[in-house]
Amino acid sequence: MKRLLLFFALILTGGVTATLLFAAMTDSQAQKLWRQITEESPYSRWHHVDSEVSGQKSGAPYAPYYRIYAREAPPKAKGAPADYGTVLVRENLSADKRLQGVTVMYKIENYNSDAGDWFWAKYTADGQVEEAGKVRKCIGCHSFAAGNDYIFDRWAQR
Ligand code: HEC
Repeated sequence: MKRLLLFFALILTGGVTATLLFAAMTDSQAQKLWRQITEESPYSRWHHVDSEVSGQKSGAPYAPYYRIYAREAPPKAKGAPADYGTVLVRENLSADKRLQGVTVMYKIENYNSDAGDWFWAKYTADGQVEEAGKVRKCIGCHSFAAGNDYIFDRWAQR
């Protein structure tokens, strides 16, 4: 009986350690991504669309306004998958247009073939990682756009 308990305790600790390790790895990947899009190739210089220009206000659960930035031009044909390496950045802005946070989609080959191979990340306005990886709620809602490679793309419909 004792052995059995020890066995389960070990499995549990192993599981917790693995989960923590995995979370730490995902976090550092998200931090690296933040450096890439703010220092190496600042997204502020990419092509961008303002929600006011596009005439679309954000839907829930987002802040009222957005700005969406794409390093690469949007996919040519609607529904065509984005190239690997594509990064999409969405700035979430308050009613008075202050930056409240940043959400990012980054397409990585073989990362998550069940959901478009996107790495999802949510940051505070100053770049602290809030959520990252195969974030279930991001995937859940963006699944409505699964036929368009999980990209809502309203901003690209100009
Ligand atoms: C409840 C639905 C919902 C959830 C949850 C959600 N999104 Fe979105 N997202 C949208 C919609 C709708 C748009 C299109 C712009 C708009 O209308 O705000 C969008 C746009 C985006 C864009 C710009 C590319 C595109 O699809 O047009 C990025 C990047 C993004 N979201 C990242 C994320 C990340 C990261 C998460 C999780 C932390 C997340 N989203 C969670 C609904 C959602």
